[in-house]
Formats: sequence, structure tokens, C-alpha cells
Amino acid sequence: MAVILGLSAYYHDAAAALVIDGKIVAAAQEERFTRKKHDESLPVNAIEYCLREAGLAAADIDYVGFYEKPYLTFERLLETYFAFAPAGFSSFVRAMPAWLGTKLRIHRHIRNSLGGAYRKQIVFARHHESHAASAFFPSPFDEAAILTMDGVGEWSTTTMGHGRGNRITLTHELRFPHSLGLLYSAFTYFAGFKVNSGEYKLMGLAPYGEPTYVDLIRDKLIDLKEDGSFRLDQRYFNYCQGLTMTSRAFDKLFGGPPRAPEAPLTQREMDLAASIQVVTEEVVLRLARTVHTRTGSRNLCMAGGVALNCVANGRILREGPFERIWIQPAAGDAGGALGVALFVWHQLLGNARTATTLDSQSGSLLGPRFADSEIRAVLDRAGARYHEAASDDELCERTADLLATESVVGWLQGRMEFGPRALGGRSILGDPRSPAMQSTMNLKIKFRESFRPFAPSIKQERVADYFEMRDREDSPYMLLVAPVKPEHRTKTDGPSAFGIERLKQLRSTVPAITHVDYSARVQTVDPTRHGRYYQLLDRFERKTGCPVLINTSFNVRGEPIVCTPEHAYRCFMATDMDALVMEHFILLKSEQPGRESFDRKAYLAEHELD
Ligand SMILES: [Fe+2]
Repeated sequence: MAVILGLSAYYHDAAAALVIDGKIVAAAQEERFTRKKHDESLPVNAIEYCLREAGLAAADIDYVGFYEKPYLTFERLLETYFAFAPAGFSSFVRAMPAWLGTKLRIHRHIRNSLGGAYRKQIVFARHHESHAASAFFPSPFDEAAILTMDGVGEWSTTTMGHGRGNRITLTHELRFPHSLGLLYSAFTYFAGFKVNSGEYKLMGLAPYGEPTYVDLIRDKLIDLKEDGSFRLDQRYFNYCQGLTMTSRAFDKLFGGPPRAPEAPLTQREMDLAASIQVVTEEVVLRLARTVHTRTGSRNLCMAGGVALNCVANGRILREGPFERIWIQPAAGDAGGALGVALFVWHQLLGNARTATTLDSQSGSLLGPRFADSEIRAVLDRAGARYHEAASDDELCERTADLLATESVVGWLQGRMEFGPRALGGRSILGDPRSPAMQSTMNLKIKFRESFRPFAPSIKQERVADYFEMRDREDSPYMLLVAPVKPEHRTKTDGPSAFGIERLKQLRSTVPAITHVDYSARVQTVDPTRHGRYYQLLDRFERKTGCPVLINTSFNVRGEPIVCTPEHAYRCFMATDMDALVMEHFILLKSEQPGRESFDRKAYLAEHELD
């Protein structure tokens, strides 16, 4: 038996993953345990969980893999500093203590985190090798083209290559400071959202705007070649030498300084979001065509933060040239932990790999689970009132009843998701047919910006009835955006609205999950991977004729997705959620003692706005 622990840490989204004899046994992000969003510290809690899940101790580990080579990253930092010196002095001085104190002593810190019990080797893979491994090895393909795109890892910002059997080969790369991820993050920053976190908001904002800045971006910021390679004009950016993403020249180009965080959104931010989205899709489509030509493969695997741009992913799938694509659900740096562990097993140790029909990511349900007995103990300690369903049938029947009468339901079932999306393990669910639901869920449940869209879960066999996707198209990880089918769209009469006002128009039979451009970020749910969640959708369909539910992550704004029943119960009490369903237990808010006195303000204040 070979036990491999993969780790990512020290940048953002630290995580641990455990692979035993090639099988992904457990994987989790540190933020879920420490309750600090995007926690980058060495993932001691996630490591402890992974070992507990497997019933092993640190001394049982055969290999530890780390997802990047810190010395190469340090070299980039130094070289960039000297290239811009003395301009970058303040950011250099800020970065140094962490490097000298922690990042360059990583061997020692990893060994300490394992209680000194681990005495064997620590393997360092390259950052994009880890992304590429996380994209190809768990995929359902025996051979595939590979494309990784992110902000930066060591020197690389984009890589392409090929995977076959148990080996990956990366053949081409783009290097820092020319980075699609950093370009997108620069616009995220300029629109007043947090870098490495608010990129999703920018993508959600894009459909409200018009792509009026595309030519300006193409003329001034990015020199894009036919093959998808590009150079960024560094005069407009400040990430090499400064503490901001964009420079004064960027402000001048786009008519003033960045939007202050939490300031009202204006047409400019919406148009910028729409424009950078168009440019990003163009780059990604060109890169996809290039890697297709170079490899001749019919399949594509992707990872890296840019692969979370599900609008671009949907276009690759619809417009080709690939027949099938598979994207690592933990496409950001958390997934590097899983990638490096699989890299050690297949690439370095040479162990064979057999691609499985579905993929070997197990629905990305790779985190902790809690037994009914544990949940009962938590609820009793909290003085909660609950009902216990005698069977899965009864559980799903009662939950579907609640949803069909417009209750918002917290849903904690089985293992927690690995990756940024909630996939039915730690979700908040609602009725997508309800016209009020989008606004209710944003403002009273999630306490987040009203423009943000919600995503649908749909029974896989019904996906082509609602969305412009192939029959039974697999999208279990909510990484593809597709248009709502014309037959489900409703005509919006009256004066045409602009900007955020468009939110108020009803656009389809499932308005809560239909974005203002008629798009939806689709998760398909199947009985094999999703068990009880599939049963719930099935019940809901039998009651209402609608095989779709709103699925949003179980958290409030700024909070990491809940992990334990305690987290879920507190979040339920702090919000206007109507019901909480955890394994076989059903809680109704109206029956909870203490619901009046629960200190919502204090709860929300625990989480820094993201
Ligand atoms: Fe990365």
C-alpha cells in the first residue's frame, strides 16, 4: 500500500488530499475548518481530517507532495523586484518576512505539522504540473489535451500539453507577467471586488453590461496572437512592483480611479465586466484551438483559476473543437494538493491508470461526513427542536413539500464538497419557479449583493429539456454555463430595462436561476454520484413538474461553506432560512426556541466581507 498526502498552502486556498494506491480517499480545504475564507496557512486541520478519514497516522504516510516549488517562486519575486527596483521596494519589504520566516523553511513546517512523525521524502512538483495532474488523472479520458490557466505559479501563467494513460507532458507555456488570470484579476480589482475571490462576481456582473471596452482592451492592454498567446502592456498594471493591480495609466484609460469596495455599481463596472469577459473568452477559445491542433485530441482537460470561468467553458463545449471536456472542480490552487498527490502516484512512481466512465473524482464529495448520532448530539446540546425522518423516502418527501411551498432549505448531506462550489452536500436550496426567490435568497439568506445570480441543479436526464446542452450532458461540478431553452423563456413586455433594473424582469419559467442574458450555470445531478440529492429532485419534480432546484452554497457572504452540523445550525439560526435538513433530521425555523434572541449581527460580523 502506498499512502500519498498532497498539500497546497501559503498563497491562497490551502488544502490537503489523500491518495491511497491511486484512489482519492479524502480532500478538503483548510478554510472549512478554520472558518477563515481562502485560508492559506499550512492545512493542519485538513491533514488531520484526511488521516482520520482513512484511519491512518502521520507515520503511515509514504510520500508527501507539495503543489509548487517555492524556490522558483522566490526567484521570480527577486528577479521581478530587481527588474523594477527601486519601484517595488514597499511590496518587496512586505513580502519578505513571510518568505524568510515560513515559505523557504517549508520542509520543516510540513514535518512539524505532521507532529515530527513523518521522516520520508517531501516531493515538490511544479505549480502547473500539479494543476495539469489534477485536470487529467481524475478525468474520464485515457488520453486528452491539457490546458492550465491561472494568475501565476512559479513563472508559468498558462501551460498546454497532453496526457495519456499514466503520464502527462507539458509542452508549451506563457510566463509571468503575461497572465490571463492576472488580467482578469486586474479588472476584478478595478471594479471594486477582492482579488482572488471576487472574480466570480465580475463574471456574474458581465451580463448586465455592454462590451463597449473590448477594442480599447485589445488595442492597449493585450497583444493577442492567433494561437492565443499574448503579451500584456505592463504600463497599465502595477502587480509587478506595487500593492495594487492596476496603474494610473489604467485609470486614465477607463475614465477614473477604481470603484471603491461596496460603493454603488455603475454602468462603467458592468461594461468593463462584459468587456473583459469577451476578451477572456476569445483568449481561452484560441488557446483551446491551439492545444487541439497541437495534440489532435478529441478530449480536453482544464484546471487553474481561469478554468472556473464557466461562461468561457460553456463556449468551448458548444463551439468546439473538442468533443468532450473535463474540468477539475477544485480548479484553483486547492486542487493542486490533489494534483501533486496523483502526480507522485502516476508520474513519479509509474503506477498504471485506468480511466473510469464517470471520472474518479466521486462527485468531488471528498470531505467529512457526519452520522445521524453525531447530528442528534449536536442538536440536543444546542437545545434545537427537530423531527427525524424514518426513511430516505420520508425525508425527501417532506423536504420537497417544504421547497414546493417556497421555503428556503439548508441541506447538509453526506460528504462535504472539495472545491469552491456547493454540489448538494452543503447547499441552500429553493424553488426556482418563484419570482421572489432570487432577491430573497440574496438579501435575507446570503446577505450579499442583489445582482448575483443563482445556479440550478437539474436531474441529468432532463438537462436538454431546459438548457441548450446535449442530451444527458454531464455537468456534475457546475462548471458550464448554458442558455435556457427558448421554450422556457417568457416574453418580457414593457419598457426595456438597463443595468441592474433588468434583474426585475421575469425571463423564464425558472426565473430564479435564469440570468439577465438567459444563461444558467448548470449542475446535473445523477443517482450514482448524488444519491439522496437526486431523490429529492425527483420528488420535487413529481410534486411540481419541475426537475430543477436552486442550489447555492451553504454560507453567508464572506463565510466559508459550512462543514459541520454545528456550522450549519448556526448559519440556519442567523439567517431567514425556513428549514434545515441534516441527514435524517428536519428543523423548522418557526419551532426553534431562541430564534428571536439569536444575535444575527454578531454572526455576520464574524466574517469579513468578500
Ligand atoms: Fe494556480
